[in-house]
Amino acid sequence: MSGEETEYHSKDFDWEELRQRIEDDPTLRYHFLPFTHQSVSSSALDSQSWNHFHARHSTGKFFKERRYLFKEFPELASCEEHSKVLEVGCGNGSTALPILRGKENILVFACDCSSEALERATEIVYASNVVSAKSRFRPFCCDFSTCRFPEWLICDSCRETSLQKRNIFLSDVKRDLTDITSLKESDECCVGGVDYVTLIFTLSAVPLDRMSTAVTECFSVLKPGGLLFFRDYGLYDMTMLRFEADQRVGFREYKRSDGTRSYFFSLESARNLFLAAGFIEVELEYCCVKSVNRRKQKTMHRVWVHGKFQKPM
Ligand SMILES: C[S@@+](CC[C@H](N)C(=O)[O-])C[C@H]1O[C@@H](n2cnc3c(N)ncnc32)[C@H](O)[C@@H]1O
Repeated sequence: MSGEETEYHSKDFDWEELRQRIEDDPTLRYHFLPFTHQSVSSSALDSQSWNHFHARHSTGKFFKERRYLFKEFPELASCEEHSKVLEVGCGNGSTALPILRGKENILVFACDCSSEALERATEIVYASNVVSAKSRFRPFCCDFSTCRFPEWLICDSCRETSLQKRNIFLSDVKRDLTDITSLKESDECCVGGVDYVTLIFTLSAVPLDRMSTAVTECFSVLKPGGLLFFRDYGLYDMTMLRFEADQRVGFREYKRSDGTRSYFFSLESARNLFLAAGFIEVELEYCCVKSVNRRKQKTMHRVWVHGKFQKPM
């Protein structure tokens, strides 16, 4: 097994034991106190914070492809030709690029609330050696917690008429099937919903009071039977415990000094959000990974939530 597989597929410790240990530690008690004065945040300020974040981390060093995605979500590897994925909160392309690389015909629509992020992602994808990256990667700006996804992504009213017209033309000139499928993927008509949504370390950045709107938006853009792949920070992840008391902005919700936010999901909080939006739970579990910082002689307990949810047929 490679280092990366070990990192993302092992269950190194029991989450319940970690919970017990942390909840018994008096120095960490402030993390569990009820929160009375929920802070209201503005969408424009949140996007600005993410813009600054991406401007600061514009070097290639910060970019890391999430190569484990096809192992965690094997449906991406076995999906039909010309499947459509929407990567929500694409950042610099860490999720979009491995998906484009892993499957030659897949189309990746990628949104982010930060224009800086979209520029970085586009540069990185275009500079890659991925086959037809330019035509298969479709970035657009959107804050999915306050705005609807664009109409062309969901709607397919113009699709049938435009396909009919093309089929007549194609039968005239006796084009083969390959040409038909490639024409089907042109920019000229609406997309008609996507087969998969990826929500990878993005929902935790959305303020808690806007999360249900954001998840409902993801539900609306999926085709019936489509899948949403979720991976995000889990409750009692080491990075949660590093936040100071004055960085709490809500229950299990924190703000970094640069203005970006992070929420830490329990299985229940993730389940409640997705089921309330209409999804069916397919998989939901904690991923618990122990890694050792040899230089500092410290063991780090990482907790992520892995989830797979389906829109009913
Ligand atoms: C931690 S990064 C994750 C990037 C990417 N999904 C990945 O796998 O690395 C979170 C991204 O979500 C974006 N984001 C935060 N809130 C958002 C919102 N409300 N709408 C769209 N994008 C958002 C940020 O700009 C940032 O690029």
